[in-house]
Amino acid sequence: MTSIHAFWLAGRQTTGETTLDVTSPWDGRLVAKAAVPTDAQVEEAVAAAYAVRDEFAATPAHVRAAALDHVSRRLVERTEEIAQLISAENGKPIKWARGEVGRAVSVFRFAAEEARRFNGGEAQRLDTDAGGQGRLALTRRFPKGVVLGIAPFNFPLNLCAHKVAPAIAVGAPIILKPAPATPLSGLVLGELLAETELPAGSWSVLPVANDKMPALVQDERMPVISFTGSDKVGYAIMDSVPRKHCTLELGGNGAAVILDDFSSDEDLDWAASRIATFSNYQGGQSCISVQRVIADASVYDRLVPRVVKAVEAQVTGDPSDPATEVGPLVNEDAAKRVESWVDEAVKAGAQLLTGGKRDGATYAPTVLADVPADVTIACEEVFGPVLTLKKVNGEAEAFAAVNDSKYGLQAGVFTHDLQTAFRAHRALEVGGVVIGDAPSYRADQMPYGGVKQSGVGREGVRFAMEDYTYERVMVLTGLAL
Ligand code: SIN
Repeated sequence: MTSIHAFWLAGRQTTGETTLDVTSPWDGRLVAKAAVPTDAQVEEAVAAAYAVRDEFAATPAHVRAAALDHVSRRLVERTEEIAQLISAENGKPIKWARGEVGRAVSVFRFAAEEARRFNGGEAQRLDTDAGGQGRLALTRRFPKGVVLGIAPFNFPLNLCAHKVAPAIAVGAPIILKPAPATPLSGLVLGELLAETELPAGSWSVLPVANDKMPALVQDERMPVISFTGSDKVGYAIMDSVPRKHCTLELGGNGAAVILDDFSSDEDLDWAASRIATFSNYQGGQSCISVQRVIADASVYDRLVPRVVKAVEAQVTGDPSDPATEVGPLVNEDAAKRVESWVDEAVKAGAQLLTGGKRDGATYAPTVLADVPADVTIACEEVFGPVLTLKKVNGEAEAFAAVNDSKYGLQAGVFTHDLQTAFRAHRALEVGGVVIGDAPSYRADQMPYGGVKQSGVGREGVRFAMEDYTYERVMVLTGLAL
């Protein structure tokens, strides 16, 4: 019999009146049913979060840190089971699913560490002017209020972790809405949180349908929204609540730049293997997967066959097979969209160097060259296992090509030259520049987020903690400074 995964209402395991089916993108089998909260249950969770906000903000750091450490430890203990769940609901190859659990372990551990040192307060003497004689300003950070965390399907555990762990670390209640396609990993997080001493109401995991999101977004009891997903939905949220604090982690079309000094056989083999891996991991369904390869003319002809060979060597197939590197996309419609973008580019004159085939929800790792600038795949985020190749002359042209995009999330620059690295850091309009590797590198403690259409605000544990809080100053008077 198919199991029903209950949701978490103010820390209590609960079922509603309906369920949603969670199916495997690989073979369409029913993985599980997830209970869906009624409107009244959602209201109960939001009311509980709002009611507990002062108590939670005042919860001692050691209590919050202990809860975060507990979740981290339990994720370690349950790694294999949770990785299997991620792989089943998302279609992610098991090796990448295990990696995702490992990252969530770190996110909760980092949050525990940050909770212990965050908000020690900063003292500032005010007697630098006569009017401030005997006065001291003490600044501490306090939660802005209840957080509404809206997570996507592509990292169903770790991007939930990035919403939940910083909220607990600062003592901000959170209502987490996992993606309807992949709610099970978020619900497992609920199981681990339920084993802690966190106050009831301080967290809920509610797999509500997307059409219920606007009402949640509008709810004034939740002044902070942390959203990861498409730019279309993200900006619609922000535009609908201009007075709320919104963190938006949106799309990207990650560029990998290979410059003329990165030219030995060893260099080009490394660049090709990193590009091939990170244009295809998650089936390309990561906001920082490699979509654009921008190579200097002096290395282009030697790089291209290496990239094609490395892409063709990617093992595509059953996500439960430990050898598989590329699994299906989230559903067949997503694969059909990718197929239509590739077909459009080829009809407009792009060269298909490998791939270009769809089988159900699986799209073959694909490489395109000579892609006309105005086709969809040259302008939009493909979110699929496709990369485009472009030849440029020199660093300035390479950096201009990276910036010639409405997105600006991360870029990778393959160079050995420190001066070039610093120039790239200055010139590239992105949230992160990775030197000597693909743009897809993300350490979960780093600031992560974009500019332009890639979003606003930053995740990365400490940065999200800053985002969820504000400075409140206290002036002390009559002191012997
Ligand atoms: C994303 O797709 O935005 C997340 C990428 C990551 O966490 O590695």
